[in-house]
Amino acid sequence: MHPLEQLRDDALREIEAARDEKSLEGVRVKYLGKTGSVSEWGERMKTLGKEERPVVGKLLNQARNAVTAALDQRGEKVRAEKESEALSTIDISLPGTPHEIGALHPLTQMWQRSIEIFRRMGFALADGPDIEDEWHCFDALNTPPEHPARTEQDTFYLADGCLLRTHTSTVQIRTMESVPPPIRVIAPGAAYRNEELNATHSPQFHQIEGLYVDENVGVADLKGELEFFMRELFGAETEVEFRPHFFPFTEPSLEVYVRSKALKGGEQWIEVAGCGIVHPAVFESVNKARGDDAYDPERWSGYAFGLGMDRLAMILFDIPDIRLFAQNDLRFLRQFA
Ligand code: PHE
Repeated sequence: MHPLEQLRDDALREIEAARDEKSLEGVRVKYLGKTGSVSEWGERMKTLGKEERPVVGKLLNQARNAVTAALDQRGEKVRAEKESEALSTIDISLPGTPHEIGALHPLTQMWQRSIEIFRRMGFALADGPDIEDEWHCFDALNTPPEHPARTEQDTFYLADGCLLRTHTSTVQIRTMESVPPPIRVIAPGAAYRNEELNATHSPQFHQIEGLYVDENVGVADLKGELEFFMRELFGAETEVEFRPHFFPFTEPSLEVYVRSKALKGGEQWIEVAGCGIVHPAVFESVNKARGDDAYDPERWSGYAFGLGMDRLAMILFDIPDIRLFAQNDLRFLRQFA
């Protein structure tokens, strides 16, 4: 046997014995590397005689090809074994880890639906702080100090004399303070009252305030637009009823009731909002704060409303208990995903 054939057989044996890529690389360097023993034969060729050279050249090529092919083959096998070994520790019969997909809270969905309807009706968004002063929450809204809404039982007072707003009507005042008429805004947000927590009452609840001030705004505008809103929200067959009420900051004042056969418990009238024509005294307080006569009650009139968001969402989604909105129970929230 020619020494080159011997070399080739040695290499093939070592390749077959290699268990991983690292030892295979060792074999490759040993035989085919620059100073490897097969490569050395290439150098030696130069010193050979004319007859011997083609014979050795042929053997050298055969050896190089055989070793290269064996390295490739063995390499593939080693890699495949390594992979299946890694996979063998994975139990493919186990259930996968699901990706949790987020969803909007039902109250947020309610806000978005309502805002979308009001925007189509030409309302812009307004905003105000949850922590308020007595003036914006009561005085400016024609609510005198002896009014029951101001007593400690209803209002959360803070140590510095500020309070948590008991309604979003504060944003009426804040908007009129900074923008002259005509205005047409809605203000969604939280309101707070010191009430017992039960299925229908929560110390924190949510409202959408609405305010429209222009020339010749009357009860017909108010009724028509709120009726349109309710029908967009609850369906065309929704009935809307306005019942006389009292608020210090509107005159006349009304409560809004809806009922719809399309909704669960559809035969029942449900109160969803307070509203009315802006009291001239409210315009006067705003003028005083502004230091001008921008809201001249002789020229401007307006309507305002406060929608109970939690109530609307409870009707629309058939939710029996207001506490569910704040309990963060995934079994409840998932139903709205
Ligand atoms: N602020 C009143 C409430 O919270 C609702 C209301 C708003 C009434 C605007 C009239 C006008 O009960």
